[in-house]
Amino acid sequence: MTAQLIDGNALSKQLRAKVAADTAALKAKGLTPGLAVVLVGDNQASQVYVRNKVKACEDAGLHSVLEKYEATMSEADLLARVEALNHDDSIHGILVQLPLPAHIDAQKVIEAISPAKDVDGFHIASAGALMTGMPGFWPCTPYGCMKMLESIGYDLKGKHAVVIGRSNIVGKPMALMLLQKDATVTVAHSRTQNLKALTLQADVIVAAVGKRNVLTADMVKPGAVVLDVGMNRNDEGKLCGDVDFDGVKEVAGYITPVPGGVGPMTITMLLVNTLESAQRALSEKH
Ligand code: GUN
Repeated sequence: MTAQLIDGNALSKQLRAKVAADTAALKAKGLTPGLAVVLVGDNQASQVYVRNKVKACEDAGLHSVLEKYEATMSEADLLARVEALNHDDSIHGILVQLPLPAHIDAQKVIEAISPAKDVDGFHIASAGALMTGMPGFWPCTPYGCMKMLESIGYDLKGKHAVVIGRSNIVGKPMALMLLQKDATVTVAHSRTQNLKALTLQADVIVAAVGKRNVLTADMVKPGAVVLDVGMNRNDEGKLCGDVDFDGVKEVAGYITPVPGGVGPMTITMLLVNTLESAQRALSEKH
């Protein structure tokens, strides 16, 4: 193996310790950061995700509430819950776990969240803030990727970054964050022709497609930094990313593993955003 691992568990531990210390300092000033996690229905993966989010809050000393509702909950009732949380002073972050049941318009629910509490960064106001470089909340997964690059002291200025995937949650915001740090950014996707010709020129590759082996060793320039956002299962049922890790690690300069890479960073950045929201709420009071 030639690549150095970027350890998302170790980096998360460091960052969560800082969140815990800053949370304690905020509590000493009389304000406890609070996150509300709303889950509708009984999606198995979502149940695990929300449990992990609430546990991470508890471990770092944040207040959290988990609101669970039946899959039959009406859109109007969910919108009313979000509105109540918008006005709840003990709550600084609101997260409505996706996917929502089909009869609920997820975008409508996201737009009902106050942008001041949109710690997922999914509201169009958050997307607009990211696009224009204004203060707002950045989506947690690409934000975590930026922290990973920062952790290795990587200077993106003038570097070519190729993002594979164009989702609103990862690919598009990832491209904007890299651009903000002066990288030259290419966004590739399922209709891209000759992906390999692009990735071979890349200094940084972010794979965020949700498909195994999207990136293989022959597609990577020696020494490139490879961030793997994928969460898939291989034929043996083991968790794996979008990158052929065993092959690519022999060529890349840095690589994130799956599991233990980008995954833990997503929840870490949720804590960072929730703390930040509480800090903003306090500074607005003064
Ligand atoms: N479902 C899968 N990932 C996420 C996430 O980061 N936030 C929310 N709200 N739902 C998700």
